[in-house]
Amino acid sequence: MGDYILETQNLVFEYPDGTKALDDVSIKIKKGHKVAVLGSNGAGKSTLFLNFNGIFRPKQGVVRFKGEVVRYNHRSLCALRQKVGVVFQDPETQLFSSSVFQEVSFGPMNLNLHKDEVIRRVNKALVQTGVEELKGRPTHFLSHGQKKRVSISDILAMEPEVIIFDEPTDCLDPKHTLQIFELFEQLNQEGTTIIFSTHDVDLAYAWADEIIVMQNGRVIGCGNPIEVFSDNVLLEQTELLTPMVMDIFSELKLSGFLDENNEIPRSKDKLLEIIRNKRKSN
Ligand SMILES: Nc1ncnc2c1ncn2[C@@H]1O[C@H](COP(=O)(O)OP(=O)(O)O)[C@@H](O)[C@H]1O
Ligand SMILES: [Mg+2]
Repeated sequence: MGDYILETQNLVFEYPDGTKALDDVSIKIKKGHKVAVLGSNGAGKSTLFLNFNGIFRPKQGVVRFKGEVVRYNHRSLCALRQKVGVVFQDPETQLFSSSVFQEVSFGPMNLNLHKDEVIRRVNKALVQTGVEELKGRPTHFLSHGQKKRVSISDILAMEPEVIIFDEPTDCLDPKHTLQIFELFEQLNQEGTTIIFSTHDVDLAYAWADEIIVMQNGRVIGCGNPIEVFSDNVLLEQTELLTPMVMDIFSELKLSGFLDENNEIPRSKDKLLEIIRNKRKSN
């Protein structure tokens, strides 16, 4: 199998109206990595994610999970979706049960787990996303942000090996965004591979191990965050902004305050540390 948990090879996907949403997409995702997918609206991010767990079937090319080509019969798809979970961008399209508890228990119940195990998983998932107090509430009346967190619990309760989050912080306030990323970090530390799409370049830059850039259904760039955001041709082509930490760091180097020896920081805290150390040494 090698190091890759998910791969696509020359993937082409067309919607029934003929829209070609993925065009020759070949991607390799390393097990245990945190991967951010960037690209403007309509680039193909959501379509790619739904191909990753077999909800969509490609017109050409293949998806591989742990080296095995994904097959589209009921049994193989059930097995795949147990291992590769997708949290939809819009929770309204994901949630369908009447109460929060029913909603989150639906997936594990279908795995034929013992009832105690189902309850353990549901409670754990609700605590992880901070919605345990909503357990008995009808999903229908929750706020959009609460629905989003319940939709994340849905997938966590399946305990998949890969979790794909389609714009996870869409409609979350800053406090819950931070909480969700702390949770992602914890899941990743436990070995879960995390793939997410976002328009937040600062977040992608600080947190991802690898960034994939999409445009018009194609992958037009990939690499570690520093490689991707140092590629001026790519940035111009996609109109991606550079992360603020990188901008300020370059400006401080240009102005002569910092020299070439400093490693490019990935977070605001790291940048502040470099500036403070420099001031102390002056
Ligand atoms: N149900 C659909 N039917 C037809 N075209 C669609 C459908 N959903 C998405 N598309 C088109 O597919 C392309 C990729 O969309 P999408 O994967 O949603 O992009 P992203 O998630 O990057 O915003 C866009 O051109 C979009 O208009
Ligand atoms: Mg999308």
